[in-house]
Amino acid sequence: MIHNTLVLFGATGDLTQRKLLPALWNGAQHHRFDGLHILGIGRKPWGTEGFRQKAKEACKPEKEDTEKWQAFEKSLEFSQTDVENDASFDALCQQLDRKENLLFMLATAPELFPPITQRIAKIQNSGFKRVMIEKPFGHDLASAHQLNALLKKHFGEQVYPIDHYLGKSTVRNIMVLRFSNPVFEPVWNRKYVESVQIIHSEQQGIGHRVDFYDQTGALRDMVQSHLLQMLARVAMEPPEVFDTWHVAQEKAKVLKNLEPSPEVVFGQYDGYAQEVGHESRTETFVALKAFVRTPRWKGVPFYLMTGKKLKDKFAEVIITFKPIDYMGQATQKDTLTITLQPDEKFALSVNLKEIGQTELKSFKMEYCQSCDVKTSAPQNYEILFQEALLGKKTFFASWREIEACWKFVEAVQAKVKGQKPVKYAPGSKGPAAAAHITDWNDYVG
Ligand code: BG6
Repeated sequence: MIHNTLVLFGATGDLTQRKLLPALWNGAQHHRFDGLHILGIGRKPWGTEGFRQKAKEACKPEKEDTEKWQAFEKSLEFSQTDVENDASFDALCQQLDRKENLLFMLATAPELFPPITQRIAKIQNSGFKRVMIEKPFGHDLASAHQLNALLKKHFGEQVYPIDHYLGKSTVRNIMVLRFSNPVFEPVWNRKYVESVQIIHSEQQGIGHRVDFYDQTGALRDMVQSHLLQMLARVAMEPPEVFDTWHVAQEKAKVLKNLEPSPEVVFGQYDGYAQEVGHESRTETFVALKAFVRTPRWKGVPFYLMTGKKLKDKFAEVIITFKPIDYMGQATQKDTLTITLQPDEKFALSVNLKEIGQTELKSFKMEYCQSCDVKTSAPQNYEILFQEALLGKKTFFASWREIEACWKFVEAVQAKVKGQKPVKYAPGSKGPAAAAHITDWNDYVG
C-alpha cells in the first residue's frame, strides 16, 4: 500500500484550526482518509502533543466518537519549522525525502508561497508531489503571473489552486441543476432572464486578519475568487464534454467576457480604521454591476455584492426571470434562488392560484440539502483534499480562470480609482449608495 502524507504549512494558523482540521476529522470519521498521515508545519513550539490538543479543540469530537478520535489523533504529527530558515527547512526535507506520496497544502501568509515552493521542489520523495495553494493566488495580475510561473516551473500540472467555494455542494450543483434538467436550459438566457444576483453577506468583521485584510480588501478577497467562480458556473455555455478541461475552458470564456459597468460602490464599515490602527482606503464592502459579453447574456445585468459586518449572514445566487402577461394579469417575477448559507437550498418561485381564488400569487418550491440531518455532507475542504489526493482538478480553479478574474478585478479598480470607500454602520445592510445600482430584492438600503 502506498502511503499518502498531507504536509500542512500554516498548521498553527486560523484556517487550519477553523476549517482544515475539522474537514479532515469529518472525513476521517467516514473513512474518507484512511491511512493518511497529516504533518502540520508551523513556527510555534507546539510539538505533536500540542498540535493534537489544538486539533481536539478545533474538531470538538463527541464523547461517543472517542475511539475514532484516538485513531485520527494518531495520524497527526507536528514539525516545528521556520520556512524561511535553510537549516530548519533542510531538516524537514530530510524527513520528507523518505516519504512516498506527498500532498502539500499551503495555508500560510501569501508572501511565504514562493519560498516554500522553491524549497519543497527539492524534496526527493518516491511518489507524487502535489501542491494545494490557498487563495489569494497573487495580489494582482502581475504577481499572479509570477506565482503561476514559479509553480509551473517546479510542479508542472501538479498544482491545485484552491477556491473553497468550488467545494461547496450547492456551487457544485449549479452545473447539475442547469445541465441535467431540461426545464432550465431553454430559459437560461437574455430572452427570459432579467438579472442575476450573487450576494455574500457576512456579520463578522475582519477579526485577527488585520494586516492581510488591509492589504487585500473585499474585491480581492471575495470577488476575485468566490463570487466570480459562482458567476462563471451560472453563465458558462454547456461544455462539449463534461470533463475538467472543457468545463474550465467554458468558465474562463465567461470570465474573459465579463465587463464591469461604471456602477461600482466600495464601502467600509465604521470602526474599521480603529481595528487596523490607521486611516485606510481598504473596502470591506463591494457592490457592482457587470455584463457578460456573450450572445446568451447580452444586456443582462449581473449584480455582485459582498460585505463584512452587515446585518445578516447569508450567501445566495438569485436568477430573476422576466415577468409575462397572463390573461391580462400581471405575474410576479419568477426567481430561482440557490442558497449557499446559512442553509444549502434551491428554491423556485412560480405563479399559481390558490383553490377558489382568481388572483395569481407567487409560491415557492424548495429543496433544502443541508436540512436532512441524516446525511453527513462532506465539508468543502474535505472534498478538495479528497480530489487532490486522487489527482482530480474538477473543483479547483484553473490558471486561465484566475488570470481572467484578476483582469476583471483590475478593470473594477480602474472604475473607482481615487475614490474613498463610503462608510456604513456595522449591522446595517451596507452603504445606501449601493442601493441604486442593485436589484436585489429590497436587500440593500
Ligand atoms: C474567505 C475570505 O476566502 O472566505 C474570508 O478570505 C471570508 O474573508 C470567507 O470570510 C467566507 O467563506 P464562507 O465559506 O464562510 O462563506
